[in-house]
Amino acid sequence: MRVSLEQAARILSGGGVVAVPTETVYGLAASLSNSAAIQHIFTLKGRPSDNPLITHLSSADLVKEYAKKLPPHFTEIVERFWPGPLTIVLEADQKKIPSIVRAGLPTAAFRVPNHPLAKSLLEMTGPLVMPSANLSGRPSSTKREHVEIDFGSEFPVVDGGECVAGLESTILIFTDQEWKVIRLGSIPPSSFKDVLGYEPSVPQVNRKAPLCPGQMYRHYSPQCHLHLVKVIPAEYTGAVVGFEDRVYPNEIYLYSLGISSDPYQAAHRLYDVLRYLDQRGEQEAFVDIDFPEKDLWITLLERLNKAKL
Ligand code: TXA
Ligand code: MG
Repeated sequence: MRVSLEQAARILSGGGVVAVPTETVYGLAASLSNSAAIQHIFTLKGRPSDNPLITHLSSADLVKEYAKKLPPHFTEIVERFWPGPLTIVLEADQKKIPSIVRAGLPTAAFRVPNHPLAKSLLEMTGPLVMPSANLSGRPSSTKREHVEIDFGSEFPVVDGGECVAGLESTILIFTDQEWKVIRLGSIPPSSFKDVLGYEPSVPQVNRKAPLCPGQMYRHYSPQCHLHLVKVIPAEYTGAVVGFEDRVYPNEIYLYSLGISSDPYQAAHRLYDVLRYLDQRGEQEAFVDIDFPEKDLWITLLERLNKAKL
């Protein structure tokens, strides 16, 4: 159900939860200062309590109030990428960021989003925690209708239309004297080279000591079973997630990610396509992954690999 910014701000200050558009995906917002509302987010999503939340701020200057210390290059990174689709994990001031937000960790994740509605709301309300506005494990929401499918048509949503990026923020952490990407996202690792002088590494997920707890969980998955292939089998006649400029067997139903030279369009469409497969009751689909393994394509492939589990 559409609500205005003013209504959303009232819901939040009254201890409620509301969905908010960002440039990446829709977030499910609660006030940082209301632990009961934050608990409600975990319940609504069915989210494991060991998966921490990102604190969203209206400006980079505010980070100093919530983080204990800022690593080298922090200022240069945020001057270049904030507001924007970047999340940074920092040592938290544990008195200011409640344990439930950090899932008990000594660190906290911060982001300054670049969406006019999210920015205005944050200025009205102060810091908001926002996981992606989807049921745990499911594809994220990139438009109001997705949120309403997951949480019901009466659920309050600030309607910002379709999210521009369509993939979540990239998450950076400074550890062992270097910056690392612990979740691939809208900003490819190579984009940080200018600022850092090196490309941050993307460590393998370590199940015993995960740098990013969310990476341990099944995510982004439709009910529909996905097969990732470089070539669609000639005899196949079911659903295909692929590209408009490619030729597929005649009988297939194409769920389009746009054209094969545009990873931004594919990212923008991905979750809508994954959700649409379920809306149309598809049991299985082949996904055309014949694209280069570089830049944003790598993030797309990572999301698809998680989605097919
Ligand atoms: O684009 C985005 O980041 C969206 C929009 C709404 O801002 N939010 C989002 O939130 O994707 P969520 O909760 O779906 O994913 C947050 C990820 C999780 O994988 C979580 O484990 C990780 O951030 N995270 C949060 N706090 C962390 C911390 N202290 N250390 C490591 N990872 C952390
Ligand atoms: Mg999520």
